[in-house]
Amino acid sequence: MKRYVILISGRGSNMQALIEAQLPGQCVAVISNRPEAAGLAWAAGRGVPTRVVDHRQYPSREAFDAALAEEIERLGGELVLLAGFMRILTEGFVRRFSGRLINIHPSLLPAFPGLRTHEAALATGVRVHGCTVHFVTPALDCGPIIIQAAVPVLAADTSESLAARVLAQEHIIYPQAARAVLEGRCRLADGRVVWEGDATPAHLALRVPAQ
Ligand code: GRF
Repeated sequence: MKRYVILISGRGSNMQALIEAQLPGQCVAVISNRPEAAGLAWAAGRGVPTRVVDHRQYPSREAFDAALAEEIERLGGELVLLAGFMRILTEGFVRRFSGRLINIHPSLLPAFPGLRTHEAALATGVRVHGCTVHFVTPALDCGPIIIQAAVPVLAADTSESLAARVLAQEHIIYPQAARAVLEGRCRLADGRVVWEGDATPAHLALRVPAQ
């Protein structure tokens, strides 16, 4: 069984979905860069080890990332799942965990990288929005895509209602993607996502829920 860690900064609902999915691996720790992250108590209550690597205790981004990487390696973490981890990671960190570092982003990348994605979707008037699970590469929110889920943007949507519709899909596709990687059915090779066998299984790589 592969050992994995989940990195959070806040409420940790994606982390909860990953733990509850009973993935074929061992979650060796939930690590937060913020001691006050609500998700830490939830994980501890489930008997999952928790750690805090507080970014405010380090003089630079590089020093924080080095401490974080050392903690992950001390725990024997082979796969790193970013779940609402609100820190931009340095190129050194990303390269150290290349092919073993996955993120969930609340938009259909490459549309709307960065923050406030639901506001951006409403402001631009797109009719379809969603979320993306991808391997992390040094450029922010740009890595090779594993799974996406699409949701409609409705006339009455606010950023809150749209966020909730997207979040429900995040909680489905993140465990699916993590499972595929843990089982070795999906991996990063030469900068591309490769699925076992020949073609990407379309039913898995794009989820369009019935409305
Ligand atoms: C999610 O929308 C995730 O896609 C984004 O940050 C949010 C974190 O929510 N990266 P949670 O902490 O998983 O509840």
